[in-house]
Amino acid sequence: MKTTTWLSEMTVGDPVIDAAHRALFDQMVFLLRAGDSELGDGFLSLTDKLEYDFREEERLMEGLDFPDLHGHREEHAKVLACLHQVDPADVGAAREALRLMLKWFPAHVATMDSALVVALRRAAVPAAAVSPLHAAADAPAPR
Ligand SMILES: [Fe+2]
Ligand SMILES: [Fe+2]
Repeated sequence: MKTTTWLSEMTVGDPVIDAAHRALFDQMVFLLRAGDSELGDGFLSLTDKLEYDFREEERLMEGLDFPDLHGHREEHAKVLACLHQVDPADVGAAREALRLMLKWFPAHVATMDSALVVALRRAAVPAAAVSPLHAAADAPAPR
C-alpha cells in the first residue's frame, strides 16, 4: 500500500482535527517529493507544526483527564526526539525520516488520535472549542 495516499481510517471524525492531520500529511508527502533546496526549511517547518499539533492534543487530553495521556504523550515525544536528531541539511536523512513518518502517522492517527476523538465526543467537547491549532488547522505554527 502506498504510504503517500490518505487512507479512510485516517479520518477520525472531528472535522478540525481531521483538517489539521490532513495538512500535516500533505506537507509530509509534498516534502518527500520536493527538491533538495526546499527540503531543509520545509523539514524544520514540518517539525515545528508537528510539535505544536502534539502539544495541542496533549492539552486536549489533559482537559479530559484522558486515561492514555501518558502513552500518547510518550509516543509524541519519541517521534519528536527522532525528528530533532535529523540534520535537515542532510537530504538523505531527512527523506528517510519522512518515509518513516509516513508509515508511523497513519497508524498513530487511526489508533491513538482516534481514541482521543472518541473521548472528546463522549465529553461533548469539540476540539475547536479548546484548541487554537485545531480551530485554524492551516494557520502557520508559531516559531
Ligand atoms: Fe494527531
Ligand atoms: Fe497524537
